[in-house]
Amino acid sequence: MNDKKLIFSGIQPTGTFTLGNYIGAVRNWGPLQDEYNCIYCVVDMHAITVRQDPAKLRQNTLNSYALLMACGIDPEKSILFIQSHVKTHAELNWILCCNTQFGELSRMTQFKDKSQKHPDDINAGLFTYPSLMAADILAYNADLVPVGVDQKQHLELARNVAQRFNQRYGDFFTVPEAYIPKVGAKVMSLQDPAKKMSKSDDNPNAVILILDDKDTIIRKFKRAVTDSEAEVVYREGKDGINNLMTIYSSVTGKDFAAIESEFAGKGYGDFKLAVGEAVADHLEPVRTEFARISQDKAFLKECYTAGAEKALKYSQRTLSKVYRKVGFVDAR
Ligand code: TRP
Repeated sequence: MNDKKLIFSGIQPTGTFTLGNYIGAVRNWGPLQDEYNCIYCVVDMHAITVRQDPAKLRQNTLNSYALLMACGIDPEKSILFIQSHVKTHAELNWILCCNTQFGELSRMTQFKDKSQKHPDDINAGLFTYPSLMAADILAYNADLVPVGVDQKQHLELARNVAQRFNQRYGDFFTVPEAYIPKVGAKVMSLQDPAKKMSKSDDNPNAVILILDDKDTIIRKFKRAVTDSEAEVVYREGKDGINNLMTIYSSVTGKDFAAIESEFAGKGYGDFKLAVGEAVADHLEPVRTEFARISQDKAFLKECYTAGAEKALKYSQRTLSKVYRKVGFVDAR
């Protein structure tokens, strides 16, 4: 490899991403490929910490993989793979579990939230979820990890585990840092702009999915919650309009001042329609590319098989060294 820094990130196999996932995260991953060595992974093993329908999980994993490619991740430039295809993640997870404290896992807010949401299935995998995430990252000695705020606590835990291992066994793991993209805005719900846009929202009108068709996108924007004024300006207290302006700005590249003058004297109806059209046009190539890639099953398989091979080769080197460090007998 070269001396570029290494970026690792994982994404849950939800099958389709929201406009929030796209603007805040995935869209920025493609451009990183030239500046960094990038490794991206669809985390199906993390997905089963909550109950999944097996057939749907399989389909959603493949769709997520194809969608990452459609969003500009090039499997020739990056290593793009499916987590369960690379056994080193599970193997390293065990070692890291033995270096993670019960107390620190108990403090994870995501564990607390998910336990509350699924009181009938508080399984051990849900509890040790952050150790597996640490294994994903540390298996490649990643320097940087692009994560949203909701994953910061998990990344902090990965750093602590790496440091603890290094203290116990001698300096070995790179202690990863969060990567905050230069551009990348937080997208809020269209129905309650105080809340983050989330796929699990009960109200489908709150969420734009990047595979939604043009009519659906425009309809959802038309219904977006705004305020009782009639001025397209970015100002405190105008959460709905601020959110629409943020979205419009991030798909057109226009700044807020330009947007304000574009819509001076116009009503919210015109503005919402313009946002809907701009978003739909911006996502059009992603939808087309997704359709092309996902119907070519042989090509898709070639990509994820090659990705898994590269990831295995890379992470196996780390794992073998870890096995020696902890005192396992050489198998060869
Ligand atoms: N837990 C992350 C999420 O839900 C996904 C993830 C798994 C991840 N492994 C990772 C993110 C490693 C960054 C690095 O979004």
